[in-house]
Amino acid sequence: MPIIEAQGLTKTYCSRSGQVHALTGLDLSVAQGTVTAILGPNGAGKTTAVKVLTTLTRPDSGSARIAGVDVLRDPHAARRQIGVSGQYAAVDENLTGYENLEMIGRLYHLGRAAARARARSLISLFDLDEAGNRPVKGFSGGMRRRIDLAGALVMQPRVIFLDEPTTGLDPRSRIALWDIVERLVAEGTTVLLTTQYLEEADQLADDIAVIDGGRVIASGTADTLKAQIGGHRIVITLVAEEDADAAVRALSSAGRGAVDRDGRTFSVAVDHGPSALQAALAALERDGIELHDAGIRRPTLDDVFLRLTGHQTGGVAGAADINRTNAATAGVERHSGFAGQHGDSAASADETKDDPNEVSQRHGLGPAQARRGNEEKVR
Ligand SMILES: Nc1ncnc2c1ncn2[C@@H]1O[C@H](COP(=O)(O)OP(=O)(O)OP(=O)(O)O)[C@@H](O)[C@H]1O
Ligand SMILES: [Mg+2]
Repeated sequence: MPIIEAQGLTKTYCSRSGQVHALTGLDLSVAQGTVTAILGPNGAGKTTAVKVLTTLTRPDSGSARIAGVDVLRDPHAARRQIGVSGQYAAVDENLTGYENLEMIGRLYHLGRAAARARARSLISLFDLDEAGNRPVKGFSGGMRRRIDLAGALVMQPRVIFLDEPTTGLDPRSRIALWDIVERLVAEGTTVLLTTQYLEEADQLADDIAVIDGGRVIASGTADTLKAQIGGHRIVITLVAEEDADAAVRALSSAGRGAVDRDGRTFSVAVDHGPSALQAALAALERDGIELHDAGIRRPTLDDVFLRLTGHQTGGVAGAADINRTNAATAGVERHSGFAGQHGDSAASADETKDDPNEVSQRHGLGPAQARRGNEEKVR
């Protein structure tokens, strides 16, 4: 039985500029002890989905269960199963990092000694030993983020929700967080995280739910999603920009579909990578074209997103960047509509209105559950 289940969730916000349909029939199913990534651009409904599942906001319709508990009928019991770290860190500015964590433990009746021990171990897990005794108001954004994430783990909840956990973290902290997530999952915790980073979903998640316009538009493993757009791409980078026409010719005849261009780099989808690359290289060789780089790559999740939605995510580098610039050469396709963001995000401007159903940010954590063994990941 899935540990997180959601069916037909809808949520419409009324803002000054009109109604915003944040969730439009979201279905989700997460197996215990796995990492699921909700991947979507700004305004897709990720935070709203997390808020509904963590009892912070009520949906207009639909249902959700966590570990068999009905989130809408019995929010208190649901809260005992979960930990949540919201998109914006919810920490007490005047307390030190260590005191913030100890306070959470005390609020949940851990007992002073246990709360202190837990705070100490999390401070060192999140590499905050030096800053842990300073008030949070002097913390950098990334440090706040880490303290907030540590707060979600104080009670060792069975299910953890992390809303864009690595946004604002430097690369080292991001990798450290990935390690922590992997360790938690190896111990049996279930993690649902949201991200705009395709690379992050690819790296961490057993399953990915791609959402757009408030509902899931595709789901599966990273590999399944990549397979949906099929095949490989061959990519070449020229030494000289003047050879662009020859490059487009060579790739057009070796591949299928339009050739994408980013500066001196060109790519095309192919049915069989090695033979297409050989054919393209032979054609370029005949024309005496000098290459800086050449290779085969599998489609990225960004390619998948583009295929599914007709627009890109504005996420990490990948195919997104290949399509972004210099598409002037004849025969080169430039995907229309790319603006690095989702159209819906314009609605975000006046969404400051508080949701009356919202309750406090941090809540309801239960005793550590029996941890299940390490499960082989499907990647
Ligand atoms: N309290 C609110 N009042 C009005 N509109 C809201 C509110 N919260 C969210 N929305 C709108 O609902 C839609 C979904 O927002 P949500 O925060 O769930 O997106 P998101 O996927 O988390 O985006 P981001 O990547 O920017 O965090 C957006 O169009 C947003 O403007
Ligand atoms: Mg969000």
